[in-house]
Amino acid sequence: MPLQLRKLSHALGAQVCDIDLKAPLTESTFGEIYQAFLDHGILLFRDQCISREEHIAFSRRFGPLDQHDSLPQDRHPDFPELLLVTNEPHADGSASNSRYTGRQWHSDLSFTPIPSMGSLLKSWIVPEVGGDTLFANMTLAYEALSLGMQQLISPLHAIHLSGTRKINHTASGEVRAEQQRRLNPPIAQPVVRIHPETGRKALYLGEKVRRFDQMTAPESQPLIDYLNRHATRPEFVYRHQWQAHDIIVWDNRCTMHQALGDFDETQRRHLERTTVMGTPSGYVVASE
Ligand code: SIN
Repeated sequence: MPLQLRKLSHALGAQVCDIDLKAPLTESTFGEIYQAFLDHGILLFRDQCISREEHIAFSRRFGPLDQHDSLPQDRHPDFPELLLVTNEPHADGSASNSRYTGRQWHSDLSFTPIPSMGSLLKSWIVPEVGGDTLFANMTLAYEALSLGMQQLISPLHAIHLSGTRKINHTASGEVRAEQQRRLNPPIAQPVVRIHPETGRKALYLGEKVRRFDQMTAPESQPLIDYLNRHATRPEFVYRHQWQAHDIIVWDNRCTMHQALGDFDETQRRHLERTTVMGTPSGYVVASE
């Protein structure tokens, strides 16, 4: 039977209905899933009560998995292929490192020389309301720009920095950001990337971008702000309201995403992500 798909929004995304990821997936069914992933940018699978091992095994069908060496403090202690995105405190009562993960618009691992091709995020515990995630279609955003703007930005590289600026106001956040910056020197990435499988061009920016290479931050900022605002206009965005045991896979080469802090932080939000490795991109910049 062909895959049952239901569109999630006008801009991007589809829900794959009637699939149980605990059951073995034939090559041909996975081929359809992969094609839907390329066509829709993100796929949602609901009610998937799968184990961590099954999450990892399904993710490997998309490609080799990152071991999260660029974010060691957020790795699952027993499964390096899983990155924790959780506000559950550590056993000693201290706050989780990853409670603010993803609170900026970004594409995963854009701050490394091998940005991710895709990510699979599974929700284990979600707050009563909120804790949503926004996804933006960067192909549509690029295609909606005028020809003049497309030509202007096509030779540019943007410098991506690791760390989450929104947590830097706390002392522990500053220490964490500093550790991440030591592990991950600034990387210049093309502002327009060509998707290696679909051949379509997409904007590649986000809020981890500091400036354009060969330009100062004050010179770069107005255009970066304009492009980020443009790309995250409602017509390019899908907002996901999580239920426990959702799995979302997204294509980091043509989408970006942002976790919203729109929930009661005394309630638990615990998700785990695998990160599929992409191909080398960009170049290291001496210092920032
Ligand atoms: C992420 O950026 O990988 C996490 C997104 C989320 O927590 O919704």
